[in-house]
Amino acid sequence: MSETKPVARRKKKDQLEVRVRRIHRRDLNRAWEFLKLVFRDVNRETVEYQRPRSKRRFLEVYSSEWIEQLVYEVNGEIVGYSECAFEATGDDNWVNPRWFEKRGMRPLFVEELAVHPDYQGRGVGSFIMEQLQHLARTRGCTHLVLEVAENNESALSWYRTRNFYKLDAAIFLAQKVPGEPDLLPPRRLKTRPAHANGGTPTTGLMPEEVSGPALVAKKPRARKKAASAPSKSAPAQKPEPE
Ligand SMILES: CC(C)(COP(=O)(O)OP(=O)(O)OC[C@H]1O[C@@H](n2cnc3c(N)ncnc32)[C@H](O)[C@@H]1OP(=O)(O)O)[C@@H](O)C(=O)NCCC(=O)NCCS
Repeated sequence: MSETKPVARRKKKDQLEVRVRRIHRRDLNRAWEFLKLVFRDVNRETVEYQRPRSKRRFLEVYSSEWIEQLVYEVNGEIVGYSECAFEATGDDNWVNPRWFEKRGMRPLFVEELAVHPDYQGRGVGSFIMEQLQHLARTRGCTHLVLEVAENNESALSWYRTRNFYKLDAAIFLAQKVPGEPDLLPPRRLKTRPAHANGGTPTTGLMPEEVSGPALVAKKPRARKKAASAPSKSAPAQKPEPE
């Protein structure tokens, strides 16, 4: 008995299946949280946001008739999400539709493809890709077109093994501008000369304004003035005749 139970349980776990369905309004919050989780680490490493950019935009997508949002579930839990557009729409769109028209291409734009980290490497991504290829065929599209950051190496190599190739698209360039900081670096202060504070407590005044030494300096001048002034006690001297 005790032998058979774990085996039965293991068998059940091994038989997990993934199901696809169209998203429903009630799934939106859960799907948004799912995308934030999947792209958290990817977004930290890439110049462009690998989507989703904002919840507002994500909710707008739901009402767009050109965009197909699919969720992939295992036992009712979202483990995958895909979003694809049959037209290049949206104000944050990077695509020039004429480029494709000129080449006779009718692309299905894959805006989003995500698998829960706990389920990566188990075939969910391949299932999503097959679903997207199937949609492309049933809607008369000739190519799947998507954008991926060059340094999202894991996803890039995953696409490359599925025969995705690089289009004539923009690459990010940067040039280092040699520069200086706006603000000067810290400066070491001079040591205060010993006579400047003369051992007196700090008053906040300049040394020459400190009361003690200033009074001492004024005294002789006062005495000099008194010596030249006529003494009140001595008789006034007549000026010498010239
Ligand atoms: C890229 C991603 C969608 C792949 O989904 P996945 O469920 O892990 O992929 P699968 O399990 O279906 O992959 C199955 C096959 O791909 C192979 N594979 C897995 N990772 C790979 C990689 N980095 N490079 C090449 N092959 C890879 C597996 O060995 C397996 O091969 P097999 O079928 O011959 O056994 C998923 O990792 C993901 O969501 N990443 C984070 C979000 C992201 O970066 N999305 C793309 C943004 S544009």
